[in-house]
Amino acid sequence: MTTIGIDAIALAVPQGYLELADLAAARGVPAGKYVEGLGVRQMAVAAAHEDPVALAANAARRLFAQSGRSPSEIGLCVVGTETAVDHSKPIAAYLHGLLGLPSRCRVFEAKHACFGGTAGLLGAVDWIAAGKMSGNGKPRVALVVCTDVARYGLGTAGEPTQGAGAVAMIVSERPRLVELEVGVSGSYARDVHDFWRPLHSKEAVVDGHHSVACYLDALAGAFDAWREASSDKSVVRTCYHVPYGKMAKKAHKHRLGLEGREAELEASYEKEVAPSLRFPSLVGNVYTGSLYLALASLLDAEAAQLEGERIGLFSYGSGCTAEFFSGRIAAGAGKMVEQLALAAPLDARTRLSVAEYEAIRNADGGVDRAPVGTLPAPSLSQRTVAYLGIESDRRVYAN
Ligand code: HMG
Repeated sequence: MTTIGIDAIALAVPQGYLELADLAAARGVPAGKYVEGLGVRQMAVAAAHEDPVALAANAARRLFAQSGRSPSEIGLCVVGTETAVDHSKPIAAYLHGLLGLPSRCRVFEAKHACFGGTAGLLGAVDWIAAGKMSGNGKPRVALVVCTDVARYGLGTAGEPTQGAGAVAMIVSERPRLVELEVGVSGSYARDVHDFWRPLHSKEAVVDGHHSVACYLDALAGAFDAWREASSDKSVVRTCYHVPYGKMAKKAHKHRLGLEGREAELEASYEKEVAPSLRFPSLVGNVYTGSLYLALASLLDAEAAQLEGERIGLFSYGSGCTAEFFSGRIAAGAGKMVEQLALAAPLDARTRLSVAEYEAIRNADGGVDRAPVGTLPAPSLSQRTVAYLGIESDRRVYAN
């Protein structure tokens, strides 16, 4: 039987980032609370032109350029997001135009808080397993893009757990990165008010400590269900949803408790989880993409040595739903990761002052109504898609 899974990954992050130690100083909080207490060193800050559509398009462009795949191969395009730009028109429709995807393509947006990207990924796996990958006699693949700008109010407890970015993935047969175990997963759901974003607000409302408890309950439920579904209960690494690095450590501790392995926590965390937390610690919470930013970090650090090994993946979306699933790092993944140069977008950023960050955030409210020509001009490199503002009620993009 053929394998199905993640063939390629690429990231897009905003140009600007804030050092969490600078934010801590401005808020009168010891830097240790953010850096060690929450496990976040830097936080990506999206400027007006770096909206979720632009971030998604730039991640997908990079994906095609680095992986050797072509937009003409795409038969399914799903965007996972919880920071949509329209109540009706999906970001996937904008991507269809900006990327020049084929008209014979299923295109839609998936929402369930941070779970939206996983809904897209698992849906794409099912689409391939159902035999939808051949069209006009040519093999087709799926494009799944997770894109978000995470915003909490200035000065709130959630503020140091913001971030922004997009993770784009090709899902295909005979994948070159991760072979997912089709049908071997554990899901969990419960109606809770831990985190949500009312229609009138750009910023999330969150019951922070309750959200941590909901995440851990969901992990226990999904992990138990996965253990029931999987004959082999072992994985050598686990990537968790990472709203902030410390949450992944809390998750791992909770999971080791379920396995009766509490005593192994420190050594097990360093080996099995820490390699996946470098990228998230430089970007912050990217909501739907957070689990896949962690996976990209793990692959960047260890793909070559993990070829053939089994990993676990835990996705959580507030509200809430969760899934624990598993896969195997593909033979040749080490070479593929070198080709993808996953970390490159993180190495080309500009440090912002707290005043610059606050100016961007304070202008946020008007960005979706700003006429073209009134937003700060982006400095564009050749391959960059940017949001320019509104004309005749339509969003306009430089492409
Ligand atoms: P808080 O209440 O200000 O922080 O906000 P705290 O007092 O709990 O401190 C945080 C940690 O720092 C603690 O460690 C302190 O001990 C430590 P812990 O006990 O947790 O191990 N600390 C220090 N460490 C070193 N030096 C110091 C120091 N001082 C304190 N000087 C909270 C924390 C996470 C609640 C807040 O940031 C928040 O509300 N964030 C947003 C919500 C969130 O991220 N929730 C995570 C689970 S829900 C989820 O993941 C879904 C989500 O991604 C959304 C979606 O699905 O769409 C958010």
